[in-house]
Amino acid sequence: MTTSTITNNATQLVKHQQQYFASCPVGLEKILEAEIQSFQVKTTKLQRGGVLFQTFDERLFELLFGSRIASRIFKVLFEFKVKGHKDLQSTCQQIKWSSLFSTNYSFKVQTIYDFSVARLRDTEWKNSLYTSLVVKDGIMDHFKEQKDVRPNVDKNNADLTFVCHIKAEGDYDFAVSMLVDLCSEPLSHRGYRLPKMTAPLRENLAAGLIHMAGWPKAPGEALVDPFCGSGTLLIEAALIRNRVPPSFNKLKIARHTGDELWPVEKLFYFQKSEELSKNFNELLIKYYDQSQKALEKMNLSGLYGGDLDFSCGNIIKKELEKIGLHSPISFEAEDFRKMKLPTTPFCIITNPPYGERLEEPDLDGLYYELGEWLKQSARGNRAYIFTKHGPHIKSIHLKSKQKEVITNGDFDCRLLNFELY
Ligand SMILES: C[S@@+](CC[C@H](N)C(=O)[O-])C[C@H]1O[C@@H](n2cnc3c(N)ncnc32)[C@H](O)[C@@H]1O
Repeated sequence: MTTSTITNNATQLVKHQQQYFASCPVGLEKILEAEIQSFQVKTTKLQRGGVLFQTFDERLFELLFGSRIASRIFKVLFEFKVKGHKDLQSTCQQIKWSSLFSTNYSFKVQTIYDFSVARLRDTEWKNSLYTSLVVKDGIMDHFKEQKDVRPNVDKNNADLTFVCHIKAEGDYDFAVSMLVDLCSEPLSHRGYRLPKMTAPLRENLAAGLIHMAGWPKAPGEALVDPFCGSGTLLIEAALIRNRVPPSFNKLKIARHTGDELWPVEKLFYFQKSEELSKNFNELLIKYYDQSQKALEKMNLSGLYGGDLDFSCGNIIKKELEKIGLHSPISFEAEDFRKMKLPTTPFCIITNPPYGERLEEPDLDGLYYELGEWLKQSARGNRAYIFTKHGPHIKSIHLKSKQKEVITNGDFDCRLLNFELY
């Protein structure tokens, strides 16, 4: 690598004050974009697994407190091009990290490759963990140059996480975006989940499915989940309908302890601007008050859960207690075929077993029975089935009106919509 290339790269550094990336499960991008736009953010661009957007800090804070669909939100700090690791390290060294955060805070680096590692397996790009080390060394070199004190690296519990996103442009040019994660815990962690649950839906995915189903279609439309497990869909529906901000638990902790729960509070640009911290605190109080009022008036009627596993009723009760709610959501410990359905219009949104556990051998039989039950018991209503893509889908023997492709962790899934005439 020649010195002139490095210098050129340095001049290519573009600083973005207010460009952000919100991540989400693949397939929810459009729903996330609509949500971001509902916060009066105009400039958005869809990417696989998230949305790029530009906005003012105050709107960003509102999204941190109010987004139900985002998994995380990142601030884009710098964009530049490199040819190799040496180049990457020296460019990272030139970034003024010391004016971004204090050495009192620990950090870690994660690298995401937007290219096939197989294609570059014989090159220095074969290992993203190694690339993270190169970036970390660049950051450390910067601090070493500035002063003797260097921040700590903490792989498990860092105060700040920098994400180095690398896109290949041909075989020799790589576009780097350096981002900082603005959420320590994912936004999808609402705080009601009990530890060690098997196969629950992620909270933001459940909220996304409810949005995709357009529930409630009309005021009073009930929501039924006959395979409710830990009740994620029912609880998210309750939070949506009652307008409880998804960050209600974090807002409560921040309000009572004064803890810095959002990494944005640890960045110099935030700490040095009195106006910004004042606006942040005002919004935090506004959202906290809104969540307290909404929780006091919480209405859990019109939500119906069922599950073969009777312990699910107790799990849902405990989760509601974690939210501070002591009235129950209707729950029947029954096989779905015996579930009592509402006499008023309803929408079924559910996530039946799809082979993620060993004790579910006859998926085809289960989905055939599900199709029969829908035809006989849910006529005149709507049903949304979220399941892994696979041959069992055909066993339902119902024509789906719409099929959305969504990724749930490692699973390629479908949200199937049936209008039941
Ligand atoms: C994929 S899990 C649902 C997870 C749930 N969405 C959550 O977030 O926790 C499927 C659930 O279906 C239940 N189940 C399996 N067979 C059933 C049946 N025949 N009738 C009712 N529930 C059943 C299982 O006990 C399990 O809790």
